[in-house]
Order: sequence, then C-alpha cells, then structure tokens
Amino acid sequence: MQITVVGSGYVGLVAASCLAELGHQVVCVDNDDRKIAVLQAGQVPIHEEYLADLLARHGGKNIRFSTSLTDSARNAQAVFIAVGTPQGDEGDADLSYVESVAQELASAVNGFMVIVEKSTVPVFTHDWIRKIMHINGAPADSFEVASNPEFLREGTAVRDFLYPDRIVIGVDSERAAAILREIYRPLTDGSYYERPDHIPERLGAPRPVPLIQTSAKSAELIKHASNAFLAMKISFINAVANICEAVGADVRQVCEGIGSDERIGRRFLNPGIGYGGSCFPKDLSAFSAVAHECGYEFRLLDEVMRINEEQRVRFLRKVKKALWTLRGKKLAVLGLAFKGGTDDIRESPAIALIRMLLKEGCEIRAYDPAAMERAREVLGAERITYADSPYEAANKADALLLLTDWPEFAKLDLRRLRTILAYPIVVDGRNLFDPATMAEHGFQYYSVGRPDVQVPARKAAVDP
Ligand code: UDX
Repeated sequence: MQITVVGSGYVGLVAASCLAELGHQVVCVDNDDRKIAVLQAGQVPIHEEYLADLLARHGGKNIRFSTSLTDSARNAQAVFIAVGTPQGDEGDADLSYVESVAQELASAVNGFMVIVEKSTVPVFTHDWIRKIMHINGAPADSFEVASNPEFLREGTAVRDFLYPDRIVIGVDSERAAAILREIYRPLTDGSYYERPDHIPERLGAPRPVPLIQTSAKSAELIKHASNAFLAMKISFINAVANICEAVGADVRQVCEGIGSDERIGRRFLNPGIGYGGSCFPKDLSAFSAVAHECGYEFRLLDEVMRINEEQRVRFLRKVKKALWTLRGKKLAVLGLAFKGGTDDIRESPAIALIRMLLKEGCEIRAYDPAAMERAREVLGAERITYADSPYEAANKADALLLLTDWPEFAKLDLRRLRTILAYPIVVDGRNLFDPATMAEHGFQYYSVGRPDVQVPARKAAVDP
C-alpha cells in the first residue's frame, strides 16, 4: 500500500517506520524542514527502542521523508494524520494543525484515499475533517475519514505497534474498512511474526492480534476513555497510598491484594509522584472538555487530575519532612524524564518538582540517562548542574531524590551511595527500593505509601 504519514513526532515516526516494516511504501511528511533534513540524513531524533533499527532497515527504501504533503499524498491510498493536538487555553484540544492538514489534503485527492486519524482527537473530529475536505473542493466519493487510535507507550512504542493488545479501526464504510484491514493484515494473519527478521516479541501480546471494528465516533471515544481509565487507576492507587501512609500500612501489599483480582489487574497500580507525559495530562483535560461540550460534567476526571497535582505537593512535603529547611540544601536528583526509558520531559512531574525545589532555594545536581539535554533547555543552569553519572550527582549531596523509574536506578550500588552522600537520606518518588534493604544499608528512606525508614543519620564516615 502507498501510505502517507503526516507528522514526524513520536507517534508519526513510529507509525511510519512500523508501517514500512509491514511492507508498505511510506512517505513521512512534516512541515519542519530541519526535522526532515535530520531524518533524510539517516539520523534518529528521538530515543525509542528499535526505531533506529527500523529506520536503518527501511530508510530510502520503504520509507522516505518529505516536506510536501500535496506531492506525497497524491498517490496515497491512506493518509495517517499524526500531527500535534496540543492543549488549548480552555483545556480542550487545539485542532488547528489537523484542520490545516485537511485543507491541504483536499487539493491532493486523486482517486480514493482514506484519511486516518492517528493523533488523539475529540469525538466528532472525523466529521469536521470531512466538512473541511468538502468545503475545500474534495468530491464526496474521493475520500473517507476513519479513526485508528494508537495505544503506544513511549519507550516501547515500536513493540507496542507491532505486538498490540488490539487494533481499533473506526470506520463508517466497508471501503475504508477494507483498506485498513489490508494495512494491518501482516499482524492480524500473523505473517509478520513468521518472518525471520521480525522485531523481538512483546511478552504477553495476544496472537492472533484482535482487530476491533467500530464506528469512527466510537473509536475516537475509545482512545480518550482508555487513557482516562489508566490515569484514573494511577490516581486511585496514589490516593490509596496516601491512606496507607496515614495508617502505617504498606501500599505494595495492598496492590498485591487488589491487583490479583483479575477484574482489577496489577498493571498501572504503581504509586508515585503522579503521571505525566505528552498524553495523559492533555487527554484528560480534553476529554473533560468534550464531556462538558456534550452537556455532561465528568467530575471524576477532574478529581483524577486534582489527585495527580496533589501528589507532587505531597512529595515536596516529604522532602521537607526529611530535611527540615530547604534553602541552600544540596540535592541530588535522579530522573528528569516523565518515566523511565524515554528522553521525553513533556509534563514530567520530575521537572515540575525540580522547579518547586529551586523556588524553595535548593541547589540541584541532576542526572538522567537520556533526558538531560532536553531538561537543560527548559530548566537552564541557575542553581542546577548536570552530572555524568548518578554517583557524581550524589557526591556530597545532603539527600538523594528519585523522580523517574529508570530500571538502572534500582540497581545502584547502595554501599557506594551511602559512602558518598553527605547524609544518608533518600526520598524515593517511584518506590524503586525495598525499605528493609535501605534500612540494612543505614539510610533514612522515605517512599510513597510505605512506612518511612528512620535510622539515626550520621554524616558519612568516609570522605570520598
Ligand atoms: C500513555 C498510554 O499508556 C498509551 O497507551 C497512549 O498511547 C499514550 O499515553 P505514555 O505516555 O508513553 O503512554 O506512558 P505510560 O507508560 O502510560 O505512563 C504515563 C505516566 O504514568 C508516566 O508518567 C508514568 O510514570 C505514570 N505511571 C504509569 C504511574 O505513575 N504509575 C503506573 O502504575 C503507571
């Protein structure tokens, strides 16, 4: 199939590369010439597992890059829209990029094409795209608008695409359905998985991959409702963690107990400093705005967002509880990305917390395996420096703060940390360590939803 993907951000670039991997001829279009030049030069602008492999495999063959939407869409059977839908002033999604793509596409139709919404958009967006195409002169029988939401998580996006839990196609005609089914056939008939060069499997992925066909409206809602539900799970467990703290219970045990009920499940029940990223915060706000527009006040979502904000403030209080006053304190901060495995800092609770700590007068030495460059752009260099390793960050610090769940942080050498920190105080916003182990190593340890470990803190005996 000839496919155009509009947008070369996380979603667009991953979708384009994976569609090329499935054997389609893909052109990825972006109006940012610098980004396209980088991609044409064979560089990979984002940190995403397997993306570089796919681009090396298909670059210049199954996948090409262009700045001209009209040229690349002319022969396409499907055009995937994966442009940004940032949050507008009222919390609603700003769909102006989607609208300009539709305006431009109207002059590119030549035969029949399916326009596929891949970005997360509010319900009824497909109707608007259709109207915009019409008033810009595209004949009614020359296109269809469909919704094919993505459920990719950053860091595992390639494998999520190629080994999905389900594929949702929201279509209002059999003609559009047939094209989308054909695009995903290598996954639904399993032929992709028989190829010797397939990208390594995602554990637990269903086979055959279920394909759910719905109306376009339902598919648009599936995406918003899925993200809202996951965010709700996180805020729910954060609220439970707060009660655990109040009564001295252990949230890990509570999670095990509730998560082993199959109806609830264990995943997305990790308490911490709250969710962030380019999706959950924006999508919850947009879904709440959509509900309001439809005449329904979805107050549950407002509460999910409130708990999420509060979680950061509670963490700041924990830091104060551990250190008393903050002005002039030297803090080692491990983690800047909104979650482990990515260099993305959009809506990162770690960045929000660092800003709060700087406001309190702290001096920060931060480390993140992938997100330091991006963080430096938004946080600057006043009272914050960036270290080359977690140990360099921790050296002579008054306390160590863990803000992102990078797996390598959980493997840190505790003995070494104990020696190089000025005071053995660790405040863990991601519950990466076992409190008993921290106690054994002589740390004062504060985490989320679990009893504090209070050992008399003495200045490190050994000066490194
Ligand atoms: C999310 C959805 O999972 C994905 O399906 C959708 O397509 C895009 O949005 P992503 O933003 O990449 O993906 O990250 P995800 O792994 O879902 O984590 C989101 C946030 O929730 C992160 O800040 C993470 O740290 C936090 N989180 C996640 C928790 O605090 N606790 C959990 O148990 C799980």
